[in-house]
Amino acid sequence: MSQDYQDFIMKVKKKTGIDLALYKEAQMKRRLTSLYEKHGFSTFVEFFQAMTTDNSLYYAFLDRMTINVSEFYRNKSRWDILQAKVFPYLLENSKRLKIWSAACSTGEEPYSLAMVLNQLVPLNEISILATDIDENAIARAKIGIYQERALNEVPEQIKEKYFIQEQNHYKVDEKLKKVVTFKKQNLLAERFDQHFDLIVCRNVLIYFTEEAKMMLYKKFSEALKIGGILFVGSTEQIFDAEQYGFESFDTFFYKKYK
Ligand SMILES: C[S@@+](CC[C@H](N)C(=O)[O-])C[C@H]1O[C@@H](n2cnc3c(N)ncnc32)[C@H](O)[C@@H]1O
Repeated sequence: MSQDYQDFIMKVKKKTGIDLALYKEAQMKRRLTSLYEKHGFSTFVEFFQAMTTDNSLYYAFLDRMTINVSEFYRNKSRWDILQAKVFPYLLENSKRLKIWSAACSTGEEPYSLAMVLNQLVPLNEISILATDIDENAIARAKIGIYQERALNEVPEQIKEKYFIQEQNHYKVDEKLKKVVTFKKQNLLAERFDQHFDLIVCRNVLIYFTEEAKMMLYKKFSEALKIGGILFVGSTEQIFDAEQYGFESFDTFFYKKYK
């Protein structure tokens, strides 16, 4: 690793608590190099100096390092399994499920969870915790206004029930918003709440080093109840799941069995 990038990592960690060393190096370096070059800097450390006095540069950094792409019902077939198999199984053991959408980006994932679960239980019995490191993404999630393309996978009758269309934007219904609590949280640095029935963490671990992934699987397992489920992204099957006390429940769903 170059000295310049190493110094940058150290300074960023000290200032923000974000440890870039836990993100895959080549990819992150490429993204951040193109950012500092775009702003006319020639080294990471120069960029860091500027970031300490110019907040807009800090937000540009945060925006570049967090990849916020998301959509409702991402990989739709998994959401069908969630509704038909995972939620019915979880509801056998507990009427009031404790659910966490970890790295929720701009809210599409936790709102999808609320919509799917509401097919089985009333809204007033649903509460979902949704967290992300990126405060801009959280702010947008709370506003809950989306472009049409984010709703490509949403079934028509669900769209009619939970969204209000305003020109080419879709606004999430206030009743649905009330069941999701958004919080800023760094998965790699902060403690996790416990006793979850379902943890959804999708399309973020792909950006982390193997070491960081292993640490997180262990922490997710500890944060789940026995019998609880971890729902991962569609490129994120867990290698050696038993090591964390997980067994496969369905494709991309893992059950904590011990
Ligand atoms: C590609 S999005 C995935 C959104 C959603 N889970 C999905 O699958 O559609 C990745 C999200 O991970 C968040 N993220 C990156 N590093 C994080 C960290 N250390 N702690 C919490 N969230 C993080 C980013 O801010 C971004 O919103």
